[in-house]
Order: sequence, then C-alpha cells, then structure tokens
Amino acid sequence: VRNPLFGISATLDAFENHYDMEEFREYIAALREQVDRMSQLMHELLEYGRPFASALHPECIALVVHGSVANAASLARQRDVTLQSAVPPSLMAVPMDRPRMAQVFDNLIANAIQHSRPGGVVSISAEVTGDGRWARIAVEDQGSGFREDDLPRLFEPFFTRRRGGTGLGLSIVHRILDEHGGTVVASNREGGGASMVVTLPIAGEAA
Ligand SMILES: Nc1ncnc2c1ncn2[C@@H]1O[C@H](COP(=O)(O)OP(=O)(O)OP(=O)(O)O)[C@@H](O)[C@H]1O
Ligand SMILES: [Mg+2]
Repeated sequence: VRNPLFGISATLDAFENHYDMEEFREYIAALREQVDRMSQLMHELLEYGRPFASALHPECIALVVHGSVANAASLARQRDVTLQSAVPPSLMAVPMDRPRMAQVFDNLIANAIQHSRPGGVVSISAEVTGDGRWARIAVEDQGSGFREDDLPRLFEPFFTRRRGGTGLGLSIVHRILDEHGGTVVASNREGGGASMVVTLPIAGEAA
C-alpha cells in the first residue's frame, strides 16, 4: 500500500509542476490531504504490527524527547500552542530501540497539542526517581483532559474520540513501553488538562 501511495503522491507533484493553474489547486490540496491521511494510517498500522527487535542499546532519553519536541514544532505553531520542555540532558541512558522510542514521545506530544486550546501550553518535564533507577518523563497539557470513563480504554487499539483519529497512537505507546520494561499512566491534572507519565528503567553501570 505504501508504494502506490508514494506513486500517487509523486504523480500529484508532477501534475502540479506541469499544470500550475488556479482552478486545479483546490482539488490538488484535497487529494493531498487524503493521501496524507492514508500514509499516516499505514505508518501507524505498520508501527503497531511491527515485531519487537529485542536488541536494546543504552541511549540518552533526553535527546529522544528533544527530537520529538522538534518534530512537533510545526503542529504546535499551526495550533498556536507553546511547547515548554525542561528535560535535563544528563544521566538518563535508557536501553532502547531509538526510532521506536521516538514514536512514544511523538505520539504523546501530538495528542497533547491536538487536545490543547489555542494559546495553551504543553509542558514536557523529566526527572530521575527510585534512587537513580528510573527516568520519569511527563507530558502535560491544559486541554480538555480525559473523560473519567474513558481512562480504562485509552490504550485499546482503535479507541478514539478525535475526529480523523485512528486510535492507534496510545496503543503503540503502550506496546513500545512494554517492550522496554516501562509504563505509561494517564490522568487528569488538578487544574484541568491531561497528564501522561512515562517511566523507563535507566541503564545500569554494566550497560
Ligand atoms: N492529551 C489528551 N487530552 C485529552 N484526551 C486525549 C489526550 N490524548 C489522548 N486522548 C484521548 O485518547 C484517545 C486515544 O488517543 P490515541 O492517540 O490512541 O488516538 P487518536 O489520537 O484519536 O488517533 P491517532 O491514532 O491518530 O493517534 C483520543 O482520541 C482522545 O479521546
Ligand atoms: Mg493520537
């Protein structure tokens, strides 16, 4: 499915270059939007179904989180949401499959932005807990928060309340953290908004 999607997208590019006419633009934009949605869905299905590569290497979790914050910058700008990240760069080597771990924070930050109101702030913070054994990373927003009766279902595949959502984002997050011996907990913040807290084991001395 990805190859024909790529073909459609490349053909749209060529079409646009050849016939740069006002009356086509609206249709091209509509086609592109749908192709992007299908590409995104394919990406999520592949990510969800991907078998676990058991080789984990200790890497800096702060770099992964910073990468996801950078990835989310344009979505945040579109939605007029400010991203605040306070993740200390030091001492957080976590055994991981790095591209897969990046998915966790890409998905959590995207959700937080999508559920924020214009002018809202999404904050990403991290700390070391449990005598240096755990890295705890929180993604918090000031949006609607979760409906109490949705909380037990958030991590089920295809559970979604978002228009245009697939409902795979959080099930992918859960699966990836499982593979890394980590956890994720969803809750509502006291002042309103959602809080997602990820806990991951920090690499030991030997690693
Ligand atoms: N930060 C948040 N604030 C409020 N509700 C949220 C937040 N994050 C997730 N949710 C709720 O959890 C549901 C599931 O999230 P999930 O990321 O799995 O799917 P999605 O965002 O709807 O679709 P996608 O597969 O594109 O990520 C959302 O539809 C939404 O109802
Ligand atoms: Mg999502």
